[in-house]
Amino acid sequence: MDLILQKSIQIMKTLTLIRPDDWHLHLRNGEILKTVVAHSARQFQRAMVMPNLKSPVVSVEDALRYRAEILQALPSGSSFEPLMTLYLTPQTSVEDIQKVAENPFIYALKLYPAGATTHSESGVTNLNVIYPILEAMQKYDVPLLIHGEVTDTNTDIFDRERIFIETQLIPIVAQFPDLKIVLEHVTTTEAVQFVSAASQKIAATITPQHLLFNRNALLVGGIKPHYYCLPILKRESHQRSLIAAAISGNPKFFLGTDSAPHITALKENACGCAGCYSAFAAIELYTEAFEKENALDKLEAFAAFYGADFYGLPRNTTTITLEKKSWEIPSQYGEKNHLITPLNANQTLHWKQQ
Ligand code: NCD
Ligand code: ZN
Repeated sequence: MDLILQKSIQIMKTLTLIRPDDWHLHLRNGEILKTVVAHSARQFQRAMVMPNLKSPVVSVEDALRYRAEILQALPSGSSFEPLMTLYLTPQTSVEDIQKVAENPFIYALKLYPAGATTHSESGVTNLNVIYPILEAMQKYDVPLLIHGEVTDTNTDIFDRERIFIETQLIPIVAQFPDLKIVLEHVTTTEAVQFVSAASQKIAATITPQHLLFNRNALLVGGIKPHYYCLPILKRESHQRSLIAAAISGNPKFFLGTDSAPHITALKENACGCAGCYSAFAAIELYTEAFEKENALDKLEAFAAFYGADFYGLPRNTTTITLEKKSWEIPSQYGEKNHLITPLNANQTLHWKQQ
């Protein structure tokens, strides 16, 4: 058979899904925003927008201002909805929580232990200080999103999530059993076990990089800064636990990319920043991970149903379609002054959104 004929009888493989949501996303502000929000808006209907700007989003007013900036930066005609969050600081007040509860655009508060990650200097050092705030969040049903890592310099970076769960999260959950909590970007077997065994109030997001890679991607054959994110990639056994959770059909585990753009020069640096940029093809990256496990039938609920259900929001009704088609991820996205190296740059992806 000649090649042309052979090609024409090949059945094009496609996958149509309810349009997914991204339950953990960094959009930044200023120049870079336009590039990155367009990527997310092409794939996702909604995204939970993280508040760790250089000048953090700490008040309802900050969040509304940031939301307006995001909407302004969207490609025209986009129906993408940024769901806003506030940064929980030692100054957050019970009144702030009441205001969030009444506001239709703000959905949660994000807790960063001080020093845990990019722009987390305003975070909380002693969690006991915020117990009255957690009490109010429980009362007003405002979800708490947690970057779950301890930050004391003596703790091994690969143990920070596990120890956070043991020493910080377990007491919080015991004290506030009705508080809705999302343990963001889980990376360990212990986190999967904790969330699985916890009440229905506790859920977790999983990133594409933690499903697709383990610490070998970061450290074998040279230091690969574009695979450096926090919580750091762990060993393969943890990766296997995350994959098992993602494809399990357990509604406690849902999609949150943690796409975190940094300009290339700040990643390829003697002190490179943490964050992987995945928004350019987030759903394709997840699709690849699910396909490897023969679990494409579990992708839609993970990407489009469980997160909405957890937050008590309606599921989306429109769809996106992916085509089985190989393409090479470019080496850079963005404009001259803010070039961003994507996750898995120059590698082949096997799915592409139409
Ligand atoms: C995030 C960022 O760059 O804002 N970085 C990361 O490695 N994930 C912050 C965060 O979510 O920890
Ligand atoms: Zn994040």
